Amino acid sequence: DGMETTKERAEIGVYGGSGFYSLIENPREVWIETPYGMPSDKIALGEIAGKKVAFLPRHGKDHRYPPQSINYRANAWAMKALGVTRIIGPTACGSLQPEVKPGSMVVADQIVDRTSGRKDTFYDGPVTTHVSFADPYCAQLRPIAVDALRSLDIDTHDHGTIVVIQGPRFSTRAESKWFASHGWEVINMTNYPESYLARELEMCYVNISLITDYDVGLEGIEPVSHAEVMKVFASNNERVKNGIFKIIAAIPAERTCTCGSALAGARG
Ligand code: ADE
Repeated sequence: DGMETTKERAEIGVYGGSGFYSLIENPREVWIETPYGMPSDKIALGEIAGKKVAFLPRHGKDHRYPPQSINYRANAWAMKALGVTRIIGPTACGSLQPEVKPGSMVVADQIVDRTSGRKDTFYDGPVTTHVSFADPYCAQLRPIAVDALRSLDIDTHDHGTIVVIQGPRFSTRAESKWFASHGWEVINMTNYPESYLARELEMCYVNISLITDYDVGLEGIEPVSHAEVMKVFASNNERVKNGIFKIIAAIPAERTCTCGSALAGARG
């Protein structure tokens, strides 16, 4: 089934985001071919807290893949081919609400997909499958992530809705105000279909949104710039990494969620 491409194994996968290109010291690096093409980069393999971890920078090490050009399917497939069952997906995000402050982190619980034209399924036929995405993030990993981040004194929101826009442009003021008016908290360009494709492959997925800026819909705030996003992400890199180390250490071997059987009963 195309999964036997490597003998390398890992249990936990981590995607790196903007300004976040390495996690593991002295990793073994492997290219994993997939039926959907090549992932964004080599995957770095190593141990963290006694667990086998696979790290993949979703934009590529030199940030060559903007959000709309990432091969999300190849990235997810490569993780699965390594044996990964749990994925941690940190993202740089804008805030849509005053109380969600730059520098804080949000462990999102919902998504609004505003992307278009992305390849967002492994089920293009002939097998017809409708997978539940009512709860996009792993119910077991979310509280583990919240506790791990709070144990490091990181200002952490234990829920939030991420609006995923197509990019690469930022939102207009009207779009941003419209999103904010629904009460949605966070805005980003990559979390869909990354989160959903993990579900199709029955891998757990948890997001950590690092808030890098207030989006443009908030009154009296300077419009977001890419330079600002990269600056805040760079200055928070260590905090994000430490948070991820804590989460990895806290993930128990046993999966008590439903992510591992997401496809049961989904076929038409
Ligand atoms: N990523 C970081 N900040 C963002 C914003 N304001 N809008 C969309 N994606 C972002």
